[in-house]
Amino acid sequence: MKLICANFKMNLLEEDIINYLDVIENKIDKNNTVFFPNNLYLKHFKDKNYLIGSQDISFKEFGSITGDTSPIQLKEFGITYTLIGHSERRLYFNDSKYISKKIALALKNNLKIVLCIGETLDEFNNQETFKVLKQELDEALKDSLNNLSNLNDNLIIAYEPIWAIGTGKIPTKDIIENTISFIKNYLKDTYNLNLKVLYGGSVNLDNIYLLDSISIVDGYLIGGASLDPTTFLALISKVSTY
Ligand code: PGA
Repeated sequence: MKLICANFKMNLLEEDIINYLDVIENKIDKNNTVFFPNNLYLKHFKDKNYLIGSQDISFKEFGSITGDTSPIQLKEFGITYTLIGHSERRLYFNDSKYISKKIALALKNNLKIVLCIGETLDEFNNQETFKVLKQELDEALKDSLNNLSNLNDNLIIAYEPIWAIGTGKIPTKDIIENTISFIKNYLKDTYNLNLKVLYGGSVNLDNIYLLDSISIVDGYLIGGASLDPTTFLALISKVSTY
């Protein structure tokens, strides 16, 4: 079964969320769809028994870190998943240096992790994608090497080329296939991990047919196209093994 992750980012207001939940009522597979709304609206999804995740977690469990939310607080609240290392967090919050700590803490608190990795357009054009992905994976896993079996059960990778996020552009089918096999093989050969790998970046109604034909893709991380409930339902109805 494919896993669908809906990342609302910093969008929508409470009345939009209430309307969203009305529209999707009884039309969602609750076992294979995870919603990542703003933390303020997690409760609305929780009350209707949807799988929920946070868009980030703190790199510490408690303390003087104004503005952050602790993995312990999120777990207590009832989230199952967290995104870690989204490119927007890396860009605006210098997140790359905290990712390995966040992963270790997420594991400690029994949260499932969707780790985002991906190359910039320059890196893509210079054929550095594999090198960058390798570095991002090594960096992310370095504080969890004594906990690899736990990672096998709780870590999911989202391959999101940065140049594809929010741009309407996606890599070709061959490139997505090759890159996702590279990620799976690298994780298997280097860490003995067999992980699910999602694709993210401009997943929409125009390209879902092509994306769905790539069997190695284990699901999707969907931003813009998840914001409107009718579009989102139309999109997931096109995923063959959803
Ligand atoms: P997008 O965002 O679908 O709007 O490109 C995906 C993401 O950033 O997770």
